[in-house]
Amino acid sequence: GSNSESKRGALIVLEGLDRSGKTSQSSKLLTYLEGLGHSAELWRFPDRSTNVGQMISMYLSNKSQLDDHTIHLLFSANRWEKRSLMETKLKTGTTLIVDRYSYSGVAFSSAKGLDLEWCKAPEIGLLSPDLVLYLDIQPEKAAERGGYGGERYEQLEFQKKVAKCYQGLHDASWKIIDACQPIEDIEKQLQEIVLDCVLTCQKGKPLSNLWS
Ligand code: TMP
Repeated sequence: GSNSESKRGALIVLEGLDRSGKTSQSSKLLTYLEGLGHSAELWRFPDRSTNVGQMISMYLSNKSQLDDHTIHLLFSANRWEKRSLMETKLKTGTTLIVDRYSYSGVAFSSAKGLDLEWCKAPEIGLLSPDLVLYLDIQPEKAAERGGYGGERYEQLEFQKKVAKCYQGLHDASWKIIDACQPIEDIEKQLQEIVLDCVLTCQKGKPLSNLWS
């Protein structure tokens, strides 16, 4: 668009194994974009603040047990309950930096052995990210970083399976970042890619839906 009101924000997702550095890089990106005067927000999935999010949180902390399909659909529902707000924010010019999204949903559930297409189906129609930043780290390296908080999926053998499943999800919107570089180098790299994406979206790149 030509005036500032028609400039949409970008949907930027960070993905990666647990302890890959997504969360700290996400907040650095927010600070960076805000510093440049862009309207931006930091989101994360699961969003534990909703009722569905509470159920997910109980499951992750092993306080409840749920069938693998059931928890998969709850993670998806947790994104669906945010979809319309997400669209409004983007259309009114706010860039969203999102810590985990549908790719986590599919990678973690298919790592348990659930059918890939079945896992992808409930994500169809959610907003498609303009950019997916995958913080690439070997599962062994991530485990060495420590700080696995003891949540359900924070185990090396399972994370190895998740890493394999993530590999099958890469598409044209993905940028693979070596997460073992010094933090400042990763930060610089991400800033460049993200700024480019934000400007492309401002120029009128249309929003689309998963999976595309
Ligand atoms: P977090 O540590 O980023 O809050 O994520 C919690 C865990 O939930 C993490 O191990 C990844 C997993 N997860 C899924 O299994 N499916 C999903 O859809 C999402 C968003 C996260």
